[in-house]
Amino acid sequence: QRFIKSMSFALCAGAIAAASSMAQANTFRIAVGDGAGGTQHELGLKFSEEFNARTDGKHDTKMFLNGQLGDEQATINDASMGLLDFSILAINNVTPFSPSVGVLTLPYMVQSLDDAVELTQGEVGQQLVDNTIRDAGVRIVGWAYSGFRVLTNSKKPVQSLADLEGLKVRVPSNEIMIDTYRAWGINPTPMAWSETFTGLQLGVVDGQDNPYITVSAMKFDEVQKYITNIRYLFSIEPLIVSEAVFQSQPDDVQKAILDAGQAATEHSAEWLVEQEDKIKAELTAGGMEITEPANGEKEWMEKAVNQVWPKYYEQLGGKDKLNSILQSLGRDTI
Ligand code: MLT
Repeated sequence: QRFIKSMSFALCAGAIAAASSMAQANTFRIAVGDGAGGTQHELGLKFSEEFNARTDGKHDTKMFLNGQLGDEQATINDASMGLLDFSILAINNVTPFSPSVGVLTLPYMVQSLDDAVELTQGEVGQQLVDNTIRDAGVRIVGWAYSGFRVLTNSKKPVQSLADLEGLKVRVPSNEIMIDTYRAWGINPTPMAWSETFTGLQLGVVDGQDNPYITVSAMKFDEVQKYITNIRYLFSIEPLIVSEAVFQSQPDDVQKAILDAGQAATEHSAEWLVEQEDKIKAELTAGGMEITEPANGEKEWMEKAVNQVWPKYYEQLGGKDKLNSILQSLGRDTI
């Protein structure tokens, strides 16, 4: 029911095209799910600077942080209908609208920043861009790289899967992630990103997973104590533009959007490398405790890969397709 009806998309596109052909300078609105100081914010800052420069100062942007324009999943709907220009959100919140991007949230598929760069900026990434335009009416024009999603909680150090028992863990409304926690032996609690801080604060849930930089940008350290340094998902966060808005722009503005998005993407990879260790150290200095998963995370990985991957072969284009992706990353096939 989340998929956008092509008729309403076409009508909106037409309406926006008519409106924007009369427009001169534009301030484009960018919804941002996370708070200041995170990878989403940094991507948006760089994109905005580059876009403004590449349109000779004619067009600019305004970012709305912390989900002010709605929860991340809601911004996809708004952008697809042309009611919002841009959004920066986690890829796991795009998957419900364009299932093939789920390849980026398969547990243990992306095992490094290099894997993330290869998958997003190579051939696979271009297919995901095309599929997302087709399925959801939004175009991915840039990518933020945010690092591995680590597990945080307020109750106890978690080292093994047995330690998860009794913990209420929030996950996004994303089937692959829900199934991953089920494979690990608990039933997670799906909750919108915009409600997560309050959910943790009030104890509706005890924990969640997100990268170190996101934990810091969202001030989760105020309500979480323990971190488990798992590496099951490398968080990738696209900058999307409403396809209706994009198509209503003249060629030079479209080119400026694409070029600014590429420049911001390259900046994001460098920024992650510069910032991640520093922010991790700040979190521990502030009182968070980091636990390494037992046995090099073997049990976590085996359960997730063996139980979750087969369920999604079909949705992600088949086993052969996944094998070609694994080969492109220099890994063993399945
Ligand atoms: C989520 O957990 O819903 C998102 O990955 C959070 C984010 O956008 O940073």
